Amino acid sequence: MSGRASKPRDAGGHADLLVVNATQLVTAPSTPGGAPLTGGAFDRPVLLSDAAVACVDGRIAAVGPTADVLAAYPETRASAVVDARGLLAAPGFVDAHTHLPFAGTREMEFDARSRGETYASIAAKGGGIASSRRALAAIGEDDLARAVAVRLATLLAQGVTTVEAKSGYGLTWEGERKQLRALAAAAVAAPIEIVPTFLAAHAVPEEFRDRRDAYVASVVEEMIPAVAREGLARYCDVWCDAGAFSPEECRRILAAGARHGLPGKLHADELGDAGGARLAAEAGAVSADHLLHASDDGLRAMAEAGVVAVLLPGTAFTLGLPYARARDMVSHGLAVAVATDWNPGSTMSSSLSLAMTMAVTQMKLTPAEAWIAVTANAASAVGQGAVAGRIQPGYRADLSLFDVPDYRHVAYHYGHDHVRLVIARGAVAYQRGDESRCT
Ligand code: NIG
Ligand code: FE
Repeated sequence: MSGRASKPRDAGGHADLLVVNATQLVTAPSTPGGAPLTGGAFDRPVLLSDAAVACVDGRIAAVGPTADVLAAYPETRASAVVDARGLLAAPGFVDAHTHLPFAGTREMEFDARSRGETYASIAAKGGGIASSRRALAAIGEDDLARAVAVRLATLLAQGVTTVEAKSGYGLTWEGERKQLRALAAAAVAAPIEIVPTFLAAHAVPEEFRDRRDAYVASVVEEMIPAVAREGLARYCDVWCDAGAFSPEECRRILAAGARHGLPGKLHADELGDAGGARLAAEAGAVSADHLLHASDDGLRAMAEAGVVAVLLPGTAFTLGLPYARARDMVSHGLAVAVATDWNPGSTMSSSLSLAMTMAVTQMKLTPAEAWIAVTANAASAVGQGAVAGRIQPGYRADLSLFDVPDYRHVAYHYGHDHVRLVIARGAVAYQRGDESRCT
C-alpha cells in the first residue's frame, strides 16, 4: 500500500478523522484507473494488520501501519480519532444494483410463490412490476423521498456508502420522473453517494400491451431526452429477457441512452437466455446484471468488451432459481461484482453481507473474492472504480468498521449485524450504540 504522507515527521499533517489500531484492514489492490479485479487478482485483497487511515477533506490521505500513519498525521493534530482496536476496517460497501425508489410491498406474492406460483405466473395475472407500478402511482413525490431516505439510512447502518438506484415502476414519464426526483431529493441529506439509473424498459405497461413499439418509441424519443435534459440519471438500464424486452428493442433503447450521454446497463438473461449478455458486449454497456442463464459465448463477449457482471444471488435465493455461474465467469476473465437487487418483488433484502454469504456458499466465490465483488468491482459497475470501493489515498473516505477479527468472518457469520461504525465522506455517519460483541 502506498499513501504514507510525504510531510516532515516533526510537523505532521492535520487529519479531519483518524482511524487507528484496526486489528485488520481489507481492501482491493490499486489498479490503473481503478479498473476492476479479474482472474487470480480477484482472489487477492490487500490485508494489513494494526492499520490506520487518515481522512482529509472527505478523502483518504493515508493508509498503512498505525505507526507510519501517525508519524505523518499525529493524533494531536487530528480533529477526531477512532480507536479500531479489535475491529476490521473495510471499504464502504457499494451496492451496485437496487430498485430503491419503490412504493408498497409484495408479501402476498411471496406467499403465492410458496404455494406454487412463479414470478412469471404472478406477473401474467397483473401482479409483479404492474403491482408496484400501481403503488407508485398512488404515492406523492415527497412521501416517496421520505421512504427512500429511510432505506438509505438502513443501507448506511449495514455499511453501504455508495448505492445505485433505479427507476422502473413509473413506466410513464411522470412516474419515472417522480422516482428519479425522489432519489435526488433524498440524496441531498444523505451521506451516501447515490448513482441514479433510468429503467423505463423494465416492463411493457398494460396500456401498450398491443403496441409495444409505441412504448419503446416513447422511451427513445421522449423519456431519454427528458432524463438527460433534467440531469436525473447517470445510466440507462433495460431488462433483456423472455417476457421483458427483446434484444432488438433493448438495442434501440441503449443506443438512444448512449446518444444522450447515458451509458448502458442491462438486466440480462435472468429468466432465460435471451442473448442479453452478448447485447451488453455489443452495446458497450458498463454492466450486465443477473445473467443466470447467460451463454458462454455471451460471457466471453462481455469479458472482451470489459462489461462488469453484476451477480444478484438474493434473487435466485428468493425465487428459487439457479445461481449465476460465477466460477465460469471468473474463468472467462470477467470482472464479477455482487449486489442486492433490493426491490419489493424478486429480492426484498438490503443486506450485502448476506449476499456475500450466498456468493460464497451458493456461487463458490471465496470470501476474498466476495469482498472485492461488493467493493472495488461493484464500484466499477457504477462508474466509481477510481473514487470508491477501496481504502486508498485519493479515494472518497468511505469505510466501515466491523466487530470481527478477520475479513472472512463477515460472510461466515451470516444473519448477524457486525457493523460497529461507518465513515462516509470522511465523517462518522453511523455508530452502533451497543458495544456487545458476538463472535
Ligand atoms: O431485478 N428483473 C427485473 N427486475 C427486478 C424485479 C422487479 C420486480 O419484480 O419488482 C429484478 O429482479
Ligand atoms: Fe434488478
